[in-house]
Amino acid sequence: MILEQLRIEKNISDEEFDAIFPIELRELSERHWTSVFVSKIASDYFCNRKPVKVLDIGSGAGKFCFVGATLHPASEFHGIDIRQHFVDVSNALKQHHNVTNVSFFHKDVLQMDFIGYDAIYFFNSFQEKIDSSSIIDRDSEVSVEMYIAYTNHIFNELNKVPVGTKLVTYYSEDFYVPASFKLISTHINGELKFYLKDSAAEETNVQLNKEDISEHIDKHIFLSE
Ligand SMILES: C[S@@+](CC[C@H](N)C(=O)[O-])C[C@H]1O[C@@H](n2cnc3c(N)ncnc32)[C@H](O)[C@@H]1O
Repeated sequence: MILEQLRIEKNISDEEFDAIFPIELRELSERHWTSVFVSKIASDYFCNRKPVKVLDIGSGAGKFCFVGATLHPASEFHGIDIRQHFVDVSNALKQHHNVTNVSFFHKDVLQMDFIGYDAIYFFNSFQEKIDSSSIIDRDSEVSVEMYIAYTNHIFNELNKVPVGTKLVTYYSEDFYVPASFKLISTHINGELKFYLKDSAAEETNVQLNKEDISEHIDKHIFLSE
């Protein structure tokens, strides 16, 4: 019903949309899931020219993917998440609402390469590694080493994707993004950024280190003190 309403261009509030989720995932929405509005404009950017294959890194309850897949039925949305129970809920919702152009997989992003996707969505999935206010559940564990490993992986995978790949980051730092991605536009007070890869990667196997990202880590490293 909610997805039908979204499909016919009805304005849906986040509260109305989040009713599709079980209560415990609804409670995480305000902080951890992308709003309907942001999901709309980000997926419109991805799908504005032709049908595309989109990867959501850390898909959570699947909110971004469900909004995007509903509004862009010719495109395909894949979500991966490290938490099995999120993936189980997303897959159950996919079946229940019969959304055929979305799929969810239980994976750590470290197991993913990004080749084969035309567009990548990233809503700072690793903040819980360095920021005590970003805890999702008991599995959240602060680890600067893991944060560095994840950000290096994202950087190096983005380096490998072909020219023409689109990227949207939300509440994420710029150092994850290789210089081969051109910033096209910013929204939501600069927190939402639309990029397009417009030159072949020049940096291979880059290893960002703690010094490179220390300013960002220092701002958020409350829990490990
Ligand atoms: C901020 S939420 C974003 C959810 C979704 N993209 C959205 O916008 O509605 C970040 C998600 O990343 C997931 N995550 C954290 N570390 C991850 C990892 N190493 N691999 C895959 N997913 C991860 C978390 O479980 C969480 O669901």
